[in-house]
Amino acid sequence: MRLPRPHPGMLFGSGKVEELGARIESEDIDLVLIDGAVTPVQQRNLEKAWKIKLLDRTGLILEIFADRAATREGVLQVDLAALSYQRTRLVRAWTHLERQRGGLGFVGGPGETQIEADRRAIDEQMTKLRRQLDKVVKTRELHRAARAKVPYPVVALVGYTNAGKSTLFNRLTGAEVMAKDMLFATLDPTMRAVDLPHGLRVILSDTVGFISDLPTQLVAAFRATLEEVLDADLIVHVRDISHPETEAQAEDVETILEQLGTDAAIPRIEMWNKADALPAEAQATAGNLAARRDDVYLGSALTGQGLDALLDRIADELTETLSDLDLFLPFADGRARAWLHEEGVVREEAQTEEGPRLSVRWTARQAARFAAAFPDRAPAGLVPPRDAPERDTSDDPWTP
Ligand code: GTP
Repeated sequence: MRLPRPHPGMLFGSGKVEELGARIESEDIDLVLIDGAVTPVQQRNLEKAWKIKLLDRTGLILEIFADRAATREGVLQVDLAALSYQRTRLVRAWTHLERQRGGLGFVGGPGETQIEADRRAIDEQMTKLRRQLDKVVKTRELHRAARAKVPYPVVALVGYTNAGKSTLFNRLTGAEVMAKDMLFATLDPTMRAVDLPHGLRVILSDTVGFISDLPTQLVAAFRATLEEVLDADLIVHVRDISHPETEAQAEDVETILEQLGTDAAIPRIEMWNKADALPAEAQATAGNLAARRDDVYLGSALTGQGLDALLDRIADELTETLSDLDLFLPFADGRARAWLHEEGVVREEAQTEEGPRLSVRWTARQAARFAAAFPDRAPAGLVPPRDAPERDTSDDPWTP
């Protein structure tokens, strides 16, 4: 049901509370979810009236995140979000008690009410978590450097919640034609190495599902669980094409990707999933639509239909972006050299009289980032030409 005007004490009017209460009892319901915000007072009153556990939108999303957070940072961010959620609820939930206690302050220290003590305990815990987070972020940078040394491109599966990402992930990583490699299992269970049909090895990464109207307290936690997307070489947007709101969901996903600061240069393709769930006629229509677009694949993670074409495209996309190059750097330029090593793209390094020669293998995105960071070091063609006259390339350090 839609609520035109939420009731301050009970959220619903008293008739509705009674009606729902009878239904909860007769249908033996265990949990009530409210798709919106519920104040602590409303929650307490409803739980008492219905003798049942109730979660609001933020509460439910927190539960899901806590379940899905795979990285240490994700877990800490979710804990932090949970505490900040609890803190605001604490304030409101206890206001009337504070008044009742009349400021005698027996419970806390002198002059300290219970609510202040609780708030202080939460604040201390939050400070501790933030300190841990700092440490984790540093460790993560090390991990990332280690991961970058393995020069496999990363493919991130993103999509609205329930679009079928995990089903696709399991199917692709579990299929026999593709050797499964547990290399990253310890780093992050949602990342797996997969060998594509053309022999290209990639890291496939499953991500937490996107949702519209993400509560602000959860944005950081969400971002932490989505870090691999920001780092990916290719993004596969998985859509539930059988969902009546598939267009709105896709727009939400695009908006969130943008808000996360996802590099627009990362190539994206769409996988229109659950084609099997469409009636024959709608399936044909979707097929026509997909065929008209270069970046769309129609298929089903459940039946496997259409997945070969998708894999071919992923392989093509990444083979194209991985290129080899020999770079000559003058001795003076230690920063560019350090950058390349940090990025893990150096396959070989030899010393010449003028300076080191580095053989690199990188994706187009890495090449573009290098060009942006070191415009003077980047080979011609990677940097957009300035107004300068044609360059004499005879002494170009980039040309072997
Ligand atoms: P979140 O983890 O919430 O983001 O969901 P997800 O995108 O990982 O979706 P998941 O793989 O868990 O699939 C959600 C539901 O859709 C499950 O019940 C799947 O069985 C079902 N499903 C996934 N792919 C298909 C498909 O191709 N066809 C049909 N009919 N159902 C599918």
